[in-house]
Amino acid sequence: MCGIVGYIGFEQAGPFLLDGLQALEYRGYDSAGICLNDGSKLIVKKAKGKVFDLRTLTHDGHDTKGTVGIGHTRWATHGEPSDVNAHPHLSESGRFAVVHNGIIENYQQLKNYLTAKGVVFRSMTDTEVIAQLMEYYYKGDLIETVIRVLEKLDGSYALGVISQENPDEIIAVRKESPLIIGLGENENFLASDVTAILSKTRTIYRMENDEIAILGREGVKIINTDKEEIHKEIETIDWDVNAAQKGGYEHFMFKEIMEQPKAISDTIAPRIKNGRVVLDEVNLSAEELKQFNKINILACGSAYHVGVVAKYIFEKMLRIPVEADLASEFRYRDPIVNEKTLTIVISQSGETADTKEAMKEAQRRGSHVISIVNVVGSSIAVESDDVIYTWAGPEIAVATTKAYSTQLAVVYLLALYFGDMLGTVVPDEYKALVQELEDLPNKIETVLENKERIQYLASKLFNSKDVFFIGRNIDYALSLEGSLKLKEISYIHSEAYAAGELKHGTISLIEEGTPVIALATHEELIAKIVSNIEEVKTRGAQVMCIACDNHKELERVGETIFIPRVCDMLLPSLAVIPLQLFAYYVASLKGCDIDQPRNLAKSVTVE
Ligand code: F6R
Repeated sequence: MCGIVGYIGFEQAGPFLLDGLQALEYRGYDSAGICLNDGSKLIVKKAKGKVFDLRTLTHDGHDTKGTVGIGHTRWATHGEPSDVNAHPHLSESGRFAVVHNGIIENYQQLKNYLTAKGVVFRSMTDTEVIAQLMEYYYKGDLIETVIRVLEKLDGSYALGVISQENPDEIIAVRKESPLIIGLGENENFLASDVTAILSKTRTIYRMENDEIAILGREGVKIINTDKEEIHKEIETIDWDVNAAQKGGYEHFMFKEIMEQPKAISDTIAPRIKNGRVVLDEVNLSAEELKQFNKINILACGSAYHVGVVAKYIFEKMLRIPVEADLASEFRYRDPIVNEKTLTIVISQSGETADTKEAMKEAQRRGSHVISIVNVVGSSIAVESDDVIYTWAGPEIAVATTKAYSTQLAVVYLLALYFGDMLGTVVPDEYKALVQELEDLPNKIETVLENKERIQYLASKLFNSKDVFFIGRNIDYALSLEGSLKLKEISYIHSEAYAAGELKHGTISLIEEGTPVIALATHEELIAKIVSNIEEVKTRGAQVMCIACDNHKELERVGETIFIPRVCDMLLPSLAVIPLQLFAYYVASLKGCDIDQPRNLAKSVTVE
C-alpha cells in the first residue's frame, strides 16, 4: 500500500526521498511523488508508474534544491493511478503540501463544503481535502491549523505536511495508519515503514494515534492535540540491513523462500527449552485455558490459510471447536464470540485494516486475543492481549512465503503448548513431536534442494490458462495457499478444491490437458485422494502430485514430487515449499513482476 517518507536536515532532500521511496516500493504502488521547500515555495514532482520514472524526471532528486521535503508512493483508492492523483497534494495556492496513507471517509462532504466556498480541486483523491482544509483554516499558526483540520477528518491517516512559510518544519500525524520518526544528527526523518530510513538511522519514535510530531533539523517534538508535550521512548531497530536487500538473488521472493529454514529455526528455537515448548508470551493459566469452549482464528489472505491449517491441527490435538474466519467477513456478521472464546489473530504486517478491526470486535465481545505477528510494535501486536512474534525478519516480496511458514511454526508451538496444558497430547507423543519440530528446518532444506525438478515441472505448465489444486484435510488447507500463490504472482487463474467436493460441480471444468496439482501427504486419506486423482485423470487432467517419500507408488499417478515423511502436523511446512517454488518459477517463465504483482500491496491498511 501507500508509503510515506520525509526528510529535514542540511543535505539536499531529493536524493534521500527517492532512495526512501525506492525502499518502500515493495509495498506495492502505482505512482510516486515528492515535494520540497526550496526556500521560497513548494515544488512538486510526480509521476505515474515506478520510482524509476520519478528518478528520471527529477535527475535522481538533484534538480530541486531544498533541505526539507516529503515523498509518497500511492496505491490508488480514490481516483485512478495518474500524475494528478499522485501525492503530494498541494492546497489551491500551493502554500501547503500533504502526503497521506489511509482513507478519509468523510472526504466527499468536506470537498462539497469547500467547493461551495469556491475552492477548486485538481484531483479525484480524498487526500486533497486535507491540503485544501489546511489553507482554508490557516491563520498564521501551522500547528493550530493542523489540529483544526484533524478535528474535521473521519477515517484513518498517517500524514506528512509541509508549508511554504515554514521551511524549518515537517508536521507528522498518525491515526490508525503506521508512522515512525527517524532520529539523526542534524537531520530527522519521517516514514511509514522503517525500511525507508534504515540506511540513515536505527533510532526511532513509533507514533501512536493522535500524536503530532514536529520535526526540525535539530530535534523532534511530539505533542497531543491539546498541544501538551509527550515524552516518548526511543526504540532501536536491530534489523540487519542486508535482510531488506536482495543479496545476489534475482527476486526477494526467491530469497525469502530460501530463507525459510532459518526463519523457522529463529522462530522455534528460542521457544523450546529442554524438550519443552515455553511460550512466556501467552498469559493464560491452564485453568483459564480450560474455560474456553471455542477458538476463533481471524486473518486475511495467506494468513487466513494458516488459520485453516490451524483449525485442523487444533481440533485434532486440543479437542476444541475451531472456526477460521476471514477477518473482513467476521467484522460485519454479528459473530458469536464472548469471554469463553479464545481468539487468535494472524498477521505478518500487524497493520491489515480488516484483521485489526476484527480483532477489536472480538475484544469488544470479551474474547482474549493472542496475535501472531511479524512486525514488531505494529498495531495488532500492541493492541492484542498477548503477542507471539514470528522471527521471519523483514518480508519484502508482496507474496508471502517465509512469514506464512513462521506463522505455521507458531501454530505448531501453540498446539503443543496448549495440548500439554490441557492434557490432550500424551507425553510420548509430545516428546516425539517436539523432536520432529526441532528438526523441521533441516527437512525443509532437503525439499529446497529439489528445486530444479519443480522448475522443470513449471516449464511444462507455465502456459496453462487454469490450474486446479486439490487436497483433503490439511492438504486442502494447503491447496488454498498453493492456488493463491500461483494466481497472485503468475496471473494464471486457479482454484483450490477439497478433493471430495470436485464431483459436486467443479469436475465439469476438467478437460483434456487441464493441470491438476494434487496434494497427497495426509497419511490417513491417501487412498481417498488417489481415487480423486483417478477421477480427474480419467477426464484428461494432467496431474502433478506432492506426496511423502514413503508412498513411492504415487509416482504412477502423474509427475510426483516427494517430500520427507514427517508427522502429519508438520507436513504443511514441507509441502508448501514446492507450491511456492512452482508459483515462483511459473511467474518467472511468464516474465511477471514477481516481487510487486500488479494491483497488489504488501500491507493492506485500508478496508
Ligand atoms: C499473499 C499475501 C496476502 C497476506 C494478507 C494478510 O501472498 O501476502 O494474502 O497474507 O494480505 O496480510 P498480513 O499477514 O500482513 O495481515
